[in-house]
Amino acid sequence: MTKLAIPYDSKMFHQDFIFGVATSSYQIEGDRASRLDSIWDIFCQQENTISDQTNGDVACDHINRWQEDVNLICDLGVDAYRFSISWPRVMQENGQVNETGLAFYELLIDTLKMQGKKVFVTLYHWDLPQYLENKGGWLNRQTAYDFADYCALIGQRLGNKVDAYTTLNEPFCAGYLGYELGIHAPGLTGKKNGRQASHHLMLAHGLAVQVLRQHCPEADIGIVINIHPGYPLSQSADDIAATQMGGEYLFYWYLDPLLKQSYPSVIEHLNASEQPDILPGDMAIIAQPLDFIGMNYYTRNVYTMNAQGWFEIVPPSHGNLTEMGWEIVPEAMTEMLVTLHNEYDLPPLYITENGAAMPDKLENKRVMDQNRIAYFQSHLLAVHNAMEQGVNIKGYFAWSLLDNFEWAEGFSKRFGLVYVDYATQERFWKDSAIAYRDMLTSRTLSTNE
Ligand code: FCB
Repeated sequence: MTKLAIPYDSKMFHQDFIFGVATSSYQIEGDRASRLDSIWDIFCQQENTISDQTNGDVACDHINRWQEDVNLICDLGVDAYRFSISWPRVMQENGQVNETGLAFYELLIDTLKMQGKKVFVTLYHWDLPQYLENKGGWLNRQTAYDFADYCALIGQRLGNKVDAYTTLNEPFCAGYLGYELGIHAPGLTGKKNGRQASHHLMLAHGLAVQVLRQHCPEADIGIVINIHPGYPLSQSADDIAATQMGGEYLFYWYLDPLLKQSYPSVIEHLNASEQPDILPGDMAIIAQPLDFIGMNYYTRNVYTMNAQGWFEIVPPSHGNLTEMGWEIVPEAMTEMLVTLHNEYDLPPLYITENGAAMPDKLENKRVMDQNRIAYFQSHLLAVHNAMEQGVNIKGYFAWSLLDNFEWAEGFSKRFGLVYVDYATQERFWKDSAIAYRDMLTSRTLSTNE
């Protein structure tokens, strides 16, 4: 069996470095009948939204199979599990907690804690209750306050049992893909919508940090942002300018408010009618001190300038690509992390997601995903390299524990360490899972020597 030979014994991946696996509620849970609808339920029902016309009604049936999944987590030997709470599962429309829904997460967390696992809870991984979307969703400023109320209730109940809370996962996807490009739920389009939804998401984050601090003073509180390092298609001044613009619009739009209390200068390129409405005091609310930032990394963006003087992402046509068509460029991760470290006064970081969809084949109960092992290997080295250059990274979470519902790609793309046969819900360890486990075992052995 191939070993995932990461430099586990270097001083950079010291004993306190956390290795984990990550999932999210809509992607794995299923059991739609026991919760309210989310925007993803409704989005999936629309035509031409999901490439294989599937939905998350059943997904990995995790609600019924969670114990088996916790066993997988334990057998992998990871230190931590990152998952999200489904807002429409734990809240009722009247603002009261849905006790049955919350009990599920309480039991899950207690079981993980009993097994000595660290618990990283995401409070919003894109499954907004549809009743809130009916009132405008993230375009409605009130949703930010409703999010804070939901977080306050969850914080009161789960409190310090949770090691780390993240308010939002990738506000870029929720705001830009969901409200500006329309390729994610709820499928709205337009710059104004995207920018306004994003602003309300960031406001929701700031308000939620404030209430979580009150209720969970010992837990770490942070947010998860996806980094997309940008590179110009050519060295022309236009492409370089497009790269700057694209980076600001897609990435720094979410980072600068947190760390600089302002939106990047690309906001000046928007007409007044496209700019978000920002009320006095909003930026200060957003820029709450953070215990950590989670960074998700998959690939880089290559930019060119289009005829309208706006940036355009050039999809990679060849090279080393994953099944998503995403270019495999681990060094871009190192570069971005080091750049951020040099440009900002960063809190500690976690890599909260990293992984790859590959053309997995289940043969004789085995998936020989050497390509995924190579992806993890090169990206763990990229993390290590960033740490050697001074970036404070406290942990790494593989995306994902299981194959699952990959949003607009449905079940057609597999990111799991563990293969899911959706017809039977049987789980099979891929070679990459075995390699991840072996890497973690060898780490334990080396610290016991
Ligand atoms: C990230 C999402 C996660 C998963 C991966 C592949 O953007 O946070 O849910 O879909 O991409």
